[in-house]
Amino acid sequence: MDTEEGSELPSSKLGTKEHWDATYAEELKNFHENGDSGEIWFSLSCQHRLVDWLKKNVSSKETKILDIGCGNGALLMELAEDGFEELTGIDYSPAAIELAKQVADTDLHSHNIQFLVVDVLHVDDSLLHQTNFDVILDKGTYDAISLDPLGAEEKRSRYIRSVSALLANGGIFLITSCNWTREELTKHFDQMLSPEAVIPAPTLQFGGKTGQTVTSLVLQKHS
Ligand SMILES: C[S@@+](CC[C@H](N)C(=O)[O-])C[C@H]1O[C@@H](n2cnc3c(N)ncnc32)[C@H](O)[C@@H]1O
Repeated sequence: MDTEEGSELPSSKLGTKEHWDATYAEELKNFHENGDSGEIWFSLSCQHRLVDWLKKNVSSKETKILDIGCGNGALLMELAEDGFEELTGIDYSPAAIELAKQVADTDLHSHNIQFLVVDVLHVDDSLLHQTNFDVILDKGTYDAISLDPLGAEEKRSRYIRSVSALLANGGIFLITSCNWTREELTKHFDQMLSPEAVIPAPTLQFGGKTGQTVTSLVLQKHS
């Protein structure tokens, strides 16, 4: 991939499957013990912003939507509540998918969401035969992959190829990141996808500087 030297993120345990397996095993236990469905990355208000944008910009409720690295499935469940019908969530952590399935079972609107254990870096026929998705969502997953201590650059490159293979021509990819800027995301994906819109996020002021902690960018697959 065409990245400048030194442009990778410092690695972290957040980039390892062991971390996510342990995290979701704990969340699953919490769900059994006290009904807590677990963490929503980047906050509930961020999730609402994404759903609001999708409600305004995706006209058909039958649009095929895939959430990559869906975790507990909360984003898809909010979309189900808003009437979206063709929803699929994938995550490489079996405990995350078990949690998502169990939470969905307690929710009236979420019974038809398909949750699958899939590593997006090794997308196999089970998912590819279901392509093409009209909308692909990522909230925090590309960030996690970018932090992998083992070959993050190559994995990011594989991730970009997977997104492109799973997305229909003209389909949209909505990525939310706290580690990459809008310019960096645009550059990473520019072989396959073009920037279409930015979903505004609240700005924070710190030490006299104004900035955004989270970027949500909409990219469209070249036809
Ligand atoms: C920061 S969490 C975000 C979870 C969820 N999207 C949210 O917003 O609450 C990153 C998620 O990506 C998943 N993940 C990381 N690498 C993955 C991969 N190669 N394939 C599928 N899922 C992956 C993790 O298991 C975890 O659920």
